[in-house]
Amino acid sequence: MKATVPALDKHIALVGFMGAGKSTLGREVAERLGRTFLDVDAELEGLTGRSIPQLFGEGEAFFRAKEAKVTVERLHTSPPAVLALGGGALGSAQVRDALRQRAFTVHVEVDPEDAWRRVRDSGRPLAQDELDFRALFTKRAPVYAEAADATATEADEVVLAAAAVHVEAGSLARLGELVPAGEAALVSDARVAGIYGADAQVSLGGRLSSVHELPEREEAKTVDAVTALWHALRLDRTGVLVALGGGCTTDAAGFAAATYLRGIHWVAVPSTLVGQVDAAIGGKTAIDLPEGKNLVGAFHWPVRTVVDPVLLATLPERERREGLAEVVKTGLLSGEPLWELPDAQLVRRAAAYKCAVCLRDPHDRGPRNVLNLGHTFAHALEAAAGYEHVTHGTAVALGLLAALRLSGLDTAAVEDVLRPKPVRVDPDAAWAALQRDKKTEDGRVRLVLLEAPGKPLRGVERPETEVRAALDALISH
Ligand SMILES: NC(=O)c1ccc[n+]([C@@H]2O[C@H](COP(=O)([O-])OP(=O)(O)OC[C@H]3O[C@@H](n4cnc5c(N)ncnc54)[C@H](O)[C@@H]3O)[C@@H](O)[C@H]2O)c1
Ligand SMILES: [Zn+2]
Repeated sequence: MKATVPALDKHIALVGFMGAGKSTLGREVAERLGRTFLDVDAELEGLTGRSIPQLFGEGEAFFRAKEAKVTVERLHTSPPAVLALGGGALGSAQVRDALRQRAFTVHVEVDPEDAWRRVRDSGRPLAQDELDFRALFTKRAPVYAEAADATATEADEVVLAAAAVHVEAGSLARLGELVPAGEAALVSDARVAGIYGADAQVSLGGRLSSVHELPEREEAKTVDAVTALWHALRLDRTGVLVALGGGCTTDAAGFAAATYLRGIHWVAVPSTLVGQVDAAIGGKTAIDLPEGKNLVGAFHWPVRTVVDPVLLATLPERERREGLAEVVKTGLLSGEPLWELPDAQLVRRAAAYKCAVCLRDPHDRGPRNVLNLGHTFAHALEAAAGYEHVTHGTAVALGLLAALRLSGLDTAAVEDVLRPKPVRVDPDAAWAALQRDKKTEDGRVRLVLLEAPGKPLRGVERPETEVRAALDALISH
């Protein structure tokens, strides 16, 4: 299997045997990523005005030549789309070449029984006889595996793989395999190093060239901390920085990776719930300035994010609640009660949602703004508290309450799961901060609200008095 790289500016090509469900899956993935879906078989039928069995009737060689031509043509179109390829298309060397250059290729797996059940009555030329069908299955399986960057059976898997996010219980122990080739420098804070540093080092084995420590929490996201890391790094441009820790560690180390030698590869290994569902996904890295949080940074997508939900077992309840606020936010955006799921599934679903939004809008030019649900209010409360006694999670829980109220929706989920209590901050300072928020355009506040759970609305304007009242309701007077 080739090294996995994010499918940011490439097509996502689904390959696999007939009956694997490539078209259904392709449509769903395209919808989530805001991309066009192209079913190459259907394209071929549209172009020639003839059905696949008719074209096949001219002889398999004739059909394969046509199929290869259309597949290669479609792979050379832009913008990046999601494509479902014909089951036999990989027989062509030109198609395989075009896939390597132009696509992130996902093998949609199916077992032969299911595939046969689905296609035996379809009239497809190569699904006439069960024994022939099975023989072909066996022959083609290694061809798909060879061409694929990843394998999947459902949409979350495709999206996670396309974003280079690997979610697996116990994956910390497999870090050595999951970090792409090159010397590795391991970066974490003292607490995380104390709990998981040794496991990470063992797993990286001979690849590990140095170990570094960042200060804990926001102290990591300072010019001084990153400067110290720059000085200590000895990697060359083929090296890879491995950031193991919470959002502060991955933000700061990711920024160091973005800037050191003008950018080296990095792998994020998030160890907090905030990190696993949010901070380590989407390629934003940043440090803070005295003037404000995240003011200096870069978009630098990790070559891989290794999410091991088992690491959450040692996370203090207080930190878990920080992440739960983002999980509830994601659940409201996706329209599913994600917070009810066991950790491993919760992390996987929430991470997949963020991956899809970020793949759709890697540079935060529009659609990604939905992730700010509740955050306009949250940032205002945090700023008014001088980032001292109101944590981000607390502020987000309150912000979600305000967003739901302004959306005219039930607030029960937020109240039951997050139990937000009004905070004591200066209401005028909060209001001033809300109006300064970077999501303000042409002097007016634009909000992310919900038409319904699962249906976010961006850029919503509300009368100032309503917004101010919603903010004031979050503050204890
Ligand atoms: N880049 C992004 O897209 C993005 C998104 C969301 C948040 N963030 C940033 O993330 C930061 C917050 O991250 P955070 O909440 O993960 O905080 P954090 O990184 O400060 O970690 C919180 C605390 O938990 C400890 N810890 C981490 N993993 C642990 C584990 N498994 N067991 C026990 N203790 C553990 C850490 O040592 C630290 O003391 C903020 O600076 C925020 O701006 C970035
Ligand atoms: Zn947040």
